[in-house]
Amino acid sequence: MENAKQRHAGFLPPFRHFATQAIHAGQEPEQWKSLAVVPPISLATTFKQQAPGQHSGFEYSRCGNPTRDCMEKAVAALDGAKYCLSYASGLAATVNIAHLLKAGDTVVCTDDVYGGTNRYFRSIASEMGLKTIFVDCTKLENLKAAITPETKLVWIETPSNPTLKVVDIQGCADIVHKHKGVILAVDNTFMSAYFQRPLSLGADICMYSATKYMNGHSDVVMGLVSVNDDNLHERLRFLQYSLGAVPSAFDCYLCNRGLKTLQIRMKQHFHNALTIAKYLESDPRVEKVLFPGLPSHPQYELMQRQCTGCPGMISFYIKGNLENASTFLKNLKLFTLAESLGGYESLAEHPAIMTHASVPKADREVLGISDTLIRMSVGLEDSEDLLEDLDQALKAAIPDYRIYN
Ligand SMILES: Cc1ncc(COP(=O)(O)O)c(C=O)c1O
Repeated sequence: MENAKQRHAGFLPPFRHFATQAIHAGQEPEQWKSLAVVPPISLATTFKQQAPGQHSGFEYSRCGNPTRDCMEKAVAALDGAKYCLSYASGLAATVNIAHLLKAGDTVVCTDDVYGGTNRYFRSIASEMGLKTIFVDCTKLENLKAAITPETKLVWIETPSNPTLKVVDIQGCADIVHKHKGVILAVDNTFMSAYFQRPLSLGADICMYSATKYMNGHSDVVMGLVSVNDDNLHERLRFLQYSLGAVPSAFDCYLCNRGLKTLQIRMKQHFHNALTIAKYLESDPRVEKVLFPGLPSHPQYELMQRQCTGCPGMISFYIKGNLENASTFLKNLKLFTLAESLGGYESLAEHPAIMTHASVPKADREVLGISDTLIRMSVGLEDSEDLLEDLDQALKAAIPDYRIYN
């Protein structure tokens, strides 16, 4: 008890009943004839009707599936939401949300978003007549100035990817909701439902790449969307089955299982990341550490005000140049050099060459995605082993660090 309190010191208290809901919401054995305690994987694509139009709630698996249904109920409970909808990937969720709009509408998108979100709005949605304006939403006056009568969607991601800038969700909601009919969507991928509840801070849509922390085992590609508004839910449900990018029953089973340990995983990610962030911040071979759980982060107070803690995402600038960054990454042994994040295993990557290569170079420079920026997803290994790995890779990258001081 004491430990849990200490770990969340300064942050919002943990959401009440979170672990209980992760384990029980939507999982009632009574919903299955067999009374199975673990939800069965329902592979059937179609379901028997007693008479034409008289079905058990399921007709055809793209429109609804029993395994998917119980996972969506669990996620809705964890987001403090009325409804959740799931998709074949995080990007499929983004595309479904964009389909709420029509040609001629404008999206205001925070400038430091996942590279694939940037690419979708910039190169694909634009071809369908949607205009996207990218602004730095950490400054609320930028958002205020960017909204026009054509704006129908405001898209934020917080903390941002990869520079971990924090956006004030409540502040954005207050601005957005002065304009009738504008939807505020928050990409909550980095935080998971355990650390941040965008809907309770005024957002209309909470979206995830469940490929990351929500599933947490790097073996499922999936997207999730939670909402409270009945009308928005109906429109999204229609788009979900009409566009058809739904997850498989097997993936729903795995993600549902991943949710059961979300709470204990996120606590450990926070603990390991904080240990590593402190270590890197005190290391002379490191130029700067970006971790919103450190008091040195410019939005540390905002982070504490709107979150219950921090996930395992750390970015840092290594001293030197591209060669030093590259040597560091090549020499890591426990951290795997790979894209993605949010799994139990530690990963490291080079955003400028890997995840954010699709962001134009000039924009990358403005955002601080330089050749020396490294992004890490700190996993659940023993923190002392991770520190040892980082130290040996830093030694290999910068053998005589004194020359940089
Ligand atoms: C913050 C964020 N949002 C959305 C996505 C897209 O999700 P997916 O890869 O599941 O399509 C990603 C993927 O890395 C992400 O990191």
